Amino acid sequence: MTALYNFGAGPAMLPREILLDVQAELLDWNNQGMSILEIGHRTAPFQNLMQQLEDDLRDLLAIPENYSVLFLGGAARANFALIPMNLITPGQVGAYCVSGVWSKMAYTECAKLSRAYCVSSSEADGFNHAPYEMSQPLNHNTAYVYYTPNETINGVRFAQKPLHGEFPLVADMTSCLLSEPIQIEDYGLIFAGAQKNIAPAGLTIVIVRNDLLDRKPETCIPTMFDYRTHVAHKSLYATPPTFNCYFAAKMFQWIKKQGGISTIYQQNCEKSALLYDFIDTSVLYKCAIEKSSRSLMNVCFSLIRAELESDFLTKALEHGLYGLQGHRMVGGLRASIYNAMPMSGVQKLIEFMREYEESVASEV
Ligand SMILES: Cc1ncc(COP(=O)(O)O)c(C=O)c1O
Repeated sequence: MTALYNFGAGPAMLPREILLDVQAELLDWNNQGMSILEIGHRTAPFQNLMQQLEDDLRDLLAIPENYSVLFLGGAARANFALIPMNLITPGQVGAYCVSGVWSKMAYTECAKLSRAYCVSSSEADGFNHAPYEMSQPLNHNTAYVYYTPNETINGVRFAQKPLHGEFPLVADMTSCLLSEPIQIEDYGLIFAGAQKNIAPAGLTIVIVRNDLLDRKPETCIPTMFDYRTHVAHKSLYATPPTFNCYFAAKMFQWIKKQGGISTIYQQNCEKSALLYDFIDTSVLYKCAIEKSSRSLMNVCFSLIRAELESDFLTKALEHGLYGLQGHRMVGGLRASIYNAMPMSGVQKLIEFMREYEESVASEV
């Protein structure tokens, strides 16, 4: 079968050259006479790989020394619970900006511990913009301000950080880490599942300012759920997702080869602008997200004639364009255009969308 352009939101498209590289060395990694899939995580070659992985991420994001970098197994959403468990001390609460499905889920998880309050929300507007406006001032006992810079399901992006006063900012960057420049010092904690821009699913990266881990949470945290454990053991307390780490190491090298994050960001701006411009000038497609809040990674749109959606998706697939359905919770259509999606994929999508629009023109 010929290769498709994969617009799925994650697990997502990965650079072909990395996949070929992995294929070439799958049976014999690093002259070890065996596959990376079989190598122990405490062997010297693997520990070297972990060191390189961390060094390259630190280099790409200019992560200062007073931050720890963790490479953990498991789902990104585990951090919805780990963050309050680790960072909220007795009498404190977490402040949440609710801008879409993922931040709402994180807020709800913290609320289960009776430790959350919502400082801003765009839910009443159908999550059509990033809610910068605070609905109330930040409480003096705020442990952190939490937000999701890119809402993968809703296609909403914070172009600026929310107001957070003197409190640490916590960000779920699952669908945007390494897609645009960030200033690490602006954040207390960042976490990101790898399955969009970094590696196959199963790895979550956490970048945390060390002083936040001096906090003394109220209840005893199980060892595995305590960030301090993973800092102390340099991500090797439990068996890490070894293949994902190996893949991520290749991805960091690939990003460097592309020219680093600033070049990647420029490409992401160009790709998304082309697609949004086309949608805005068409008669069949529309994007409900306010222009200033539109995601660079997940372009959510719909058809003026919603009943054509399944026909659109079928024909798109016939043209080699895969994964364009919106998330089941919100419906509609979505083109996820992560770092690995080339401009040619976006151009091919637009070409198809234009042809499709013309083919149903008499009915619109
Ligand atoms: C922004 C964001 N946060 C959290 C998650 C949850 O990731 P996981 O399925 O690894 O828990 C996702 C998944 O798509 C996401 O896009």
